[in-house]
Amino acid sequence: MNNQIYPCITGVAAWLPPDRLTNELLASMVDTSHEWIASRTGIEERRILKDKDLGTSYMASHAVMNLLEKKGMEADEVEVIICATITPDMMFPNTANLICDRIGARKALAFDMLSACAGFLYALETGCNYIRSGRYKKVIVVGADKMSSITDYEDRNSCILFGDAAAAVLLEPSPDEDGIIDTILRCDPVGKDLIYLKAGGSARPASLETVQNKEHFFYQDGKRVFKYAVQGMAAVSQEMMQKHHLTNEDIDYLIPHQANLRIIEATAQMTNIPLEKVTINIQKYGNTTAATIPLCIWEWENDFRKGQNILLAAFGAGFVWGATYLRWAYNPD
Ligand code: COA
Repeated sequence: MNNQIYPCITGVAAWLPPDRLTNELLASMVDTSHEWIASRTGIEERRILKDKDLGTSYMASHAVMNLLEKKGMEADEVEVIICATITPDMMFPNTANLICDRIGARKALAFDMLSACAGFLYALETGCNYIRSGRYKKVIVVGADKMSSITDYEDRNSCILFGDAAAAVLLEPSPDEDGIIDTILRCDPVGKDLIYLKAGGSARPASLETVQNKEHFFYQDGKRVFKYAVQGMAAVSQEMMQKHHLTNEDIDYLIPHQANLRIIEATAQMTNIPLEKVTINIQKYGNTTAATIPLCIWEWENDFRKGQNILLAAFGAGFVWGATYLRWAYNPD
């Protein structure tokens, strides 16, 4: 008899700020156009949390509260909260702790994971291991980023890319063998000089100089990151498919990180998965970093059926990247 515990996603919810930053609006701020942005990235608009006094924990706690309401759960039933983010409210206390405060959870262990655009997959695998251990039965993994807080809205290379959002999943032990089957996570520091936020950490604390040099904003060498992202996401997806003897026909959905429509299309092409099976919402939200994958799960939840094969793939700063293979655990209500 197989005594293994399979973690599965049993619910998903999201929270999006109401304010929309359209390509047209960006074209009035920097030297760009809707045509350029849409054709080079696929993005048409993104959501922005405008209130300067509100941080990532605000969005994440709303996503988690929506999830608890949907599942009819009390905050104190949550045993673990893992927040994937690169835009914590502050260096410490951690954002997951602030989420606990906002939602009134007093019995959870809570911590953050910082793995950029692959953050949700890293956090999901960690959350799954709490379930697999047999000691925990209700784990929330939330991906949330207020990317507008580290975006330079005078730099046309980067300000077009990002949006703010939060989305959360509930993990529980599966009653059968449907659930998260496997995850492959990778890291290669070749990316450390290609995509980063230079200052504000212990190696380069904030100073007048770092502020004047705009070192508290996101930076990337977009062209080079693009190539690594395509290769990384496609290779790890193929590896996962081969490992589990899955052909492109066996895959019901590919849920890729949403950084650039051209990266998504190239990944689909290289894995031979037709675009009808690929979740794409980048046109509405841009790159929301750790939130992109759970945001897709949330938007497509009603299309998924129990037992369907779903492949998640993400690539981010570091570089860190990975893929998760899961069999969806429930039908829509
Ligand atoms: N509007 C108009 N022109 C722009 C522009 C904008 N918003 N941004 C850049 N350009 C210009 C550049 O200045 C450049 O002009 P030049 O040829 O006169 O020098 C030209 O467009 C091409 O720029 P380039 O950076 O080569 O564009 P690109 O096709 O590589 O697209 C990105 C840029 C950022 C959209 C793309 O490289 C990308 O998506 N990279 C990876 C993103 C990613 O995955 N990041 C994170 C993973 S987590």
